[in-house]
Amino acid sequence: MIAQIKDTVVLKRFFEYAAEAVVVMDTNSIILKANRSFLCLFGYRPDEIVGQKLVNHIVKANRKKLLADLQNVNGETNSRVLGYSKDGSSLALQLKLVSVPQEPDLLIAFVNQTDGHGDTTTTTAQSITKATSAQNSMDIHKKALNAAGNGILIVDAQDPQLPIIFSNPAFGHMTGYRNSEVLGLNCRFLQNGDRDQPALKRLRKAIKKGVDCKVILRNYRKDGSMFWNELTITPVHDQEQNLTHFIGVQHDVTKEKKALQLQGDIRSILEKIALDQPLKTITKHIVRVAEAHFNGCMASISLLNQKMGTLHQMAAPSLPKAFSKAVEGMAIGPEACSCGVSAYSKSEVFVPDLATDPNWKDYRESAIENHIKSCWSMPIISNNQEVIVTFTMYCESSNVTLKAYREIMADLSQLTALAINQHRIRIELEASRRKIEKYAQTLEDKVQARTGELKATVQQLVESNLSLEDQIKETMIAEKKAQRSQALFSAIAQNFPKGIIVVFNENIEMVYVEGEELGRLDLKKQELEGKRLTDIPVFSKNQIENIQVLVRQTLKGKHISDEITYNGNVYSINSTPLYSDDNNIVWALFVYSNITDQKMVQNELLKALISERELNELKSRFISMASHEFRTPLSAILSSAILIGKQNEPGKEERREKHVTRIKANVKNLVVILNDFLSLSKLEEGKVLPKQEYFDLTAYIKTLLEEMEINKKE
Ligand SMILES: Cc1cc2nc3c(=O)[nH]c(=O)nc-3n(C[C@H](O)[C@H](O)[C@H](O)COP(=O)(O)O)c2cc1C
Repeated sequence: MIAQIKDTVVLKRFFEYAAEAVVVMDTNSIILKANRSFLCLFGYRPDEIVGQKLVNHIVKANRKKLLADLQNVNGETNSRVLGYSKDGSSLALQLKLVSVPQEPDLLIAFVNQTDGHGDTTTTTAQSITKATSAQNSMDIHKKALNAAGNGILIVDAQDPQLPIIFSNPAFGHMTGYRNSEVLGLNCRFLQNGDRDQPALKRLRKAIKKGVDCKVILRNYRKDGSMFWNELTITPVHDQEQNLTHFIGVQHDVTKEKKALQLQGDIRSILEKIALDQPLKTITKHIVRVAEAHFNGCMASISLLNQKMGTLHQMAAPSLPKAFSKAVEGMAIGPEACSCGVSAYSKSEVFVPDLATDPNWKDYRESAIENHIKSCWSMPIISNNQEVIVTFTMYCESSNVTLKAYREIMADLSQLTALAINQHRIRIELEASRRKIEKYAQTLEDKVQARTGELKATVQQLVESNLSLEDQIKETMIAEKKAQRSQALFSAIAQNFPKGIIVVFNENIEMVYVEGEELGRLDLKKQELEGKRLTDIPVFSKNQIENIQVLVRQTLKGKHISDEITYNGNVYSINSTPLYSDDNNIVWALFVYSNITDQKMVQNELLKALISERELNELKSRFISMASHEFRTPLSAILSSAILIGKQNEPGKEERREKHVTRIKANVKNLVVILNDFLSLSKLEEGKVLPKQEYFDLTAYIKTLLEEMEINKKE
């Protein structure tokens, strides 16, 4: 009995302090008793583990098998399972299941931690020292793996299922799975059925060959969200070069992938812009890209009508039609939901919960009906500070992390602005192209018309048989003639005797001055030519005005003949208008001739003429006077002779005598008069001198009276 009791006590002590982990359980794996080593291995206190099922501390994948083993223990059964401790670290375990005689529902399990290949790390009490040092080294490795930033998995390569036997905390953070959920599983569960991935082929090959491999896979977190997993697997061999494990390192490269994806998306948008695709297609594509990068959001681009101040949707392919309709044509303003306020304030507007936002009062109902919870709007502003469009994200959740997406939003906004600008430029270019085409057409028509004319001219030339050579010859002859005549004209002009030739243009400038007289007047051709009259100092103001009047008259077509006195000389002026080829008066030709000498001769002649005229007058006066002087005595003689003839009877002798006396007296008178006439030339010559003489005025008057008496009787 004592021995029995002693045995019991001893066994109890041995059970309690055995280095090997021992647990007593029922066939359903409910733990009835666990020794210190077991508690230590799993990290629990007795009250935490007793009454719990052991299978709950074993990875799911191994549970079924363990439970089956527990049901079928016949004496002693070995089972290898993966368990995990309280802190979540994995435990590769070897269980020696021992049935208890007479207690078919009880089992004792001797639990040993293995290195994954069945080599127990704590097999017997004797190997404790070795185990402790191995444990220490393992602890160091474990700590390192636990501290690693990348997910690290170790899979058992000797199990064809390649079960996970170790996963570090970073893997749990990355995937959202707890350690207990993944141990014993093949990693393919991370693919979540997304099996059509070319990278898997390479991975399979590498696993089959037992070599390194690096691939990027689409994997899914526990919450179903996708992430890009850059997986590197490395084979581990034992001393005999047997492949025992694979180590897998997982790196979440979603950000990098997304950045690359965004780059690709931006490139594809730019390509569309460069290819001049329709603005509608480009904006729709931008919206699709935005939606691909913003989980659970719908994008919309609305164009601002500057005149009306209203927003009109350009691209919103995912937005529910009813909501689209509700916001279409929205007037911008300080209280006009997100995009309206954004366009109005020219700033970004984020409404995390539009159910409570006062600016959403008019559109709230429609938004909620269409599961829109938050809204983020950005204005796209042109170079001249005008809002062109708004870019809006309507999201199903309120938890939109703006910071992460702002750059993408800004990039897409810029691209939208670029596309719109490009579109506007294209429209302007199109208009310009049409204009140019029109001009080109007109030009072509003109060219054609000109070509026609040219052809006709050529035809005419051909017809008139006038060869170019002949024309040149003729032109040369004409030129020579012109040169000769010009030389001739120059010679004439230069030697123009006693005169000056001046040509004035329309501005009354002397364009040509020549003539012999220039030298005489001490004038120089160079000082006159090309100058305006007012700029030539040799002329007085009065002279200039007179010349200007004459030039203007000539330029109007008059021919002027005049005279001027200049420097004591008299000049005759003769002007004539000169015509251009198109028959317009462009010059006035003035010929100034020095006529001072002629003028003097003319004056002399004039004087002679006057004295001649005076002489003639004197002569005629003299003749009339002489004829009068002769007539008086002659008529007296005649009348006396007639009377003598009538008084020829006797007794009238006295009377006859009287008449004879009278005749005599008159003849005498005649002789005196004649002498006077004859002495006239002497008088002219100044040879006759006055002489004082007695004159009987009474007798003379008496005679006169008698004569008059006789004449009266007659
Ligand atoms: C060490 C190691 C780690 C692995 N990690 C992952 C992983 O993180 N994600 C994944 O999808 N597949 C992973 N795999 C690959 C899968 O386990 C599996 O080999 C792959 O899906 C191809 O095989 P299957 O066609 O049988 O699924 C890993 C494989 C090994 C060996």
